[in-house]
Amino acid sequence: MTSRPRLFIPDRILPAVLARAGETFALLESVDEGPDGILATINVPVDDALLAAAGPGLRIVANYAVGVDNIDLEAAAARDIVVTNTPDVLTQATAEFAVGLMLSLVRRIAEGDRLLRARTEWHFSLDFMLAEGLDGKAVGIVGAGRIGRATAAMASAFGARPVLIGRNDPLHRLLGELDIVSLHCPLTPETRHLINADALALMKPQAFLVNTARGPLVDEAALADALARGALRGAALDVFEYEPRVTERLLEMDNVVVTPHMGSGTRATREAMGFMALRSLEQLLVHGEEPANQVAVART
Ligand code: GLV
Repeated sequence: MTSRPRLFIPDRILPAVLARAGETFALLESVDEGPDGILATINVPVDDALLAAAGPGLRIVANYAVGVDNIDLEAAAARDIVVTNTPDVLTQATAEFAVGLMLSLVRRIAEGDRLLRARTEWHFSLDFMLAEGLDGKAVGIVGAGRIGRATAAMASAFGARPVLIGRNDPLHRLLGELDIVSLHCPLTPETRHLINADALALMKPQAFLVNTARGPLVDEAALADALARGALRGAALDVFEYEPRVTERLLEMDNVVVTPHMGSGTRATREAMGFMALRSLEQLLVHGEEPANQVAVART
């Protein structure tokens, strides 16, 4: 009997995906057992130390995510290790979550929920908790990839005017024209703190910020400062600079909506991501084929 490829899965994954992994791979308990592949989640920093600990047999790291900022791509390339991700299957889920956060902000949905949970006395009146709609809002989509474009299309259905902002577009020049700034770009050394004090100062005081991409795109202390002095209207964050920790000051603000990294989190999507990652592992380790969804090292 030929032995099954050896897979190390350092984090908890969905049972359906784990069960399928167990049908094809010998599942290892520890990285020291010499895996052929690693199925990582964004909780797992895949650095050179982990790759070294896996030993020379390691051929592929399949990330159970589209973002690969948890992986040292240079270190993997230097060791000839293929890295794959899980694009497309999470586009719809993440885009709808981004638009959901926009709606929650402009229509004050989470704020209303919090008001009732605080047992605040209230009664219906025509001017109570008046809000706005997405209709006519200029929504800057920072990162014009698949998720950004899907978010733009969905926001358009609510009457918003999306402005796609790619890597080479003048973000700072555009910020002052936007009612909502929604982040959809990868986290790289170039995009860390893309939304810092300078960027926030360029935004309209009436504007909102939405982040469903990666927390460190935003300087959270600068964001809290801007919100506190009324330089920004509100923010909705699904990801955090020091995840899972959330900057305390933000938790105290009524114009801030926070959710615990749920963007791609429908069961169907998270299972599809897992099966996609397994397919890449199987392509290389079982069939000796080029795996789908390989991530290249970005050359700057
Ligand atoms: C989730 O955050 C992902 O990058 O897939």
